[in-house]
Amino acid sequence: MKILSIETSCDETAVSIVEATGGVQSPSFRVLGNALNSQIAIHSEYGGVFPMLAKREHAKNLPILLKDVLIQANEYKEKKTETSEEMWQKIENILTKEIGLYENIKNIFSTIEKPDIDMIAVTSGPGLTPALWVGISCAQALGVLWDIHVMPINHMEGHIVSVLMENEDVRPVEFPALALLISGGHTEIVSIKAWGSYTVIGQTRDDAVGEAFDKVARMLGLPYPGGPEISQLAKMAREKNIPHTVTLPRPMLHSQDLDFSFSGLKTAVLYHIRDNGTPTEEEKMDIAREFEDAVTEVLIKKTEKALEDTGAKILIVAGGVIANTNIREACKHMEKKYTGLVVKTPTQKLSTDNALMIAGAAYIESEIKPFHKKNITAVGNLKLS
Ligand code: KG4
Ligand code: ZN
Repeated sequence: MKILSIETSCDETAVSIVEATGGVQSPSFRVLGNALNSQIAIHSEYGGVFPMLAKREHAKNLPILLKDVLIQANEYKEKKTETSEEMWQKIENILTKEIGLYENIKNIFSTIEKPDIDMIAVTSGPGLTPALWVGISCAQALGVLWDIHVMPINHMEGHIVSVLMENEDVRPVEFPALALLISGGHTEIVSIKAWGSYTVIGQTRDDAVGEAFDKVARMLGLPYPGGPEISQLAKMAREKNIPHTVTLPRPMLHSQDLDFSFSGLKTAVLYHIRDNGTPTEEEKMDIAREFEDAVTEVLIKKTEKALEDTGAKILIVAGGVIANTNIREACKHMEKKYTGLVVKTPTQKLSTDNALMIAGAAYIESEIKPFHKKNITAVGNLKLS
């Protein structure tokens, strides 16, 4: 099955074409085209992602990326006959709320043959609603233009499925499995009974872990996104053996549930800076290391509790924050502590938002649930179920 996937939930515009085979038992993916445009440089000027700015950038870049992946997949072929005015009217109606998108789509696709694609997959949530709508509207327009089924995909399922793609670790996922999802918008422990059957058994009560990284980085005067910056400073503190002078709390470490809270940890950094003055470069490294250690300790403790509660033998750790080496290594280390446990993480490239994982999730969904046409809506707080 050939899947064209679109991801616009936050500040990455991404498109891919993937050929998937093997079914849910042994899924296998061949990437035919893949493109991504990060808006990080634009948003970093403002210290965070601005939804309306993200929407504008998605609308500008999405048609260009679509053309790019179709060319990569050798599916961008001139056609002889004109698309009817009636069809363009339908498409204009779908794209009315997306400024500029209709013109861009018409310019790029009016003279192009229907590509050899079996399904279009698009992220419908969770994420920034205006940003999600750009991807959804575009997917629906192309679905009508080419008469191809469009499937809405949960971004978090995409992160889970990302471990199956372009990964040297081909050990199979057996159930029950567990997923620790750590991103800029989410911190969740998910129990997985089978592909497509998810129950969130623990989550953050306030900030997501990536959000806490970003906010602490801002307090230290570092640019957005702060995760990689903090991680770099923490690494330097360890390499240089900077003395430990800061102690931060490990929120909810001993609570009996599987929930997290990172807002107190972030506030503790704020108070530390308020009480001790602007930190020197060495002090910044010390704070970054202590913050990273505190986050890692809580994530690992709760995940271990979830492993013990559920008896899962597979742990999937995914989401942008798994790009953090310290957290990644601590997660991998659980394999040594729990005999028989397999810890699966995506490749570095597939850790942060991308379209390949949306295609992967679409393949899994299409294998386990029958196709049914429904109106797709952007749901900012879409839950995994
Ligand atoms: O999954 P993702 O790309 O987007 C969302 O769906 O949120 O995750 C982005 C988050 C940001 O908060 C970013 O700071 C964080 O992942 N992140 C990191 C690292 N690289 C990215 N956090 C800690 N350490 C990193 N190396
Ligand atoms: Zn994400």
